[in-house]
Amino acid sequence: MKRKGIILAGGTGSRLWPTTIGASKQLLPVYDKPMIYYPLSVLMLSGIREIAIITTPDDQSQFQRLMGDGSQWGLRFTWISQPEPEGLAQAYILASEFLAGAPSAMILGDNIFFGHGLRDLLATANERHNGGTVFGYHVNDPERYGVVDFDPDGNVTEIVEKPQKAPSNYAVTGLYFLDGRAPELAAKVNPSQRGELEITDLLELYRAEGALGVEHMGRGFAWLDTGTHSSLLDAGNFVRTMTERQGLQVGSPEEIAYHLGWISADDLRQQAEIYRKSTYGNHLLSILD
Ligand code: G1P
Repeated sequence: MKRKGIILAGGTGSRLWPTTIGASKQLLPVYDKPMIYYPLSVLMLSGIREIAIITTPDDQSQFQRLMGDGSQWGLRFTWISQPEPEGLAQAYILASEFLAGAPSAMILGDNIFFGHGLRDLLATANERHNGGTVFGYHVNDPERYGVVDFDPDGNVTEIVEKPQKAPSNYAVTGLYFLDGRAPELAAKVNPSQRGELEITDLLELYRAEGALGVEHMGRGFAWLDTGTHSSLLDAGNFVRTMTERQGLQVGSPEEIAYHLGWISADDLRQQAEIYRKSTYGNHLLSILD
């Protein structure tokens, strides 16, 4: 069965501003395009074209206005509501009908990945049909994330959610490749102290079976955070620097769709037209040259 994608753009309490302001943070621009385009691009680079986008019921219409049914990028979107932010693992339960037994790649709507070799890393995860794959990334502040604990031989012994004292500096990024059993296993997870079905508990079920691979996302990769005002600005500056220096796009669904042959040159020209007053539109047109 072909792997399907999930983007979780749920309304977990944002530290950027209260969600009551009315705009989900994943709709905010990171430099020249909406934040959600970056995780979408990662799913596209994995070769995934059928994608469920999970939002709060209130936010859904705004996301739909931005992204439509996905056909402009050669994709097919299914829209799912998550009424309360009851955890990342709940996404699999909400998406179980959409997945219909297919393996999946789930990415969080505010996670930005960039790096040479990303496609190869995604391909490795994609090829694993049984069990799951997550990505370990060395960070300064592992306490803010799910953290991987290793034994002296480098085997993963546990994944712990936001530990007070982190067993390593390896955070689990918000990108999860799981097999078709994910909804069924997610239904076995009990709510944590913060009242959420934790993704970490779901991953632990896989790990206990010896069915969880942890791929190392090494030095050449950027995994950017957009959870605070400064990290959002940093992410924007990073994308700007890469785009302006290299003249290459970061996280552009239009460019990826074109390169993968999912849309034609005419389609790309039409999409570029939408952004014609911005440098992003010019970048898109330059791809055609
Ligand atoms: C969530 C997960 C955590 C993971 C992080 C990645 O944290 O619970 O395991 O490391 O996403 O962004 P949250 O966003 O709920 O704080």
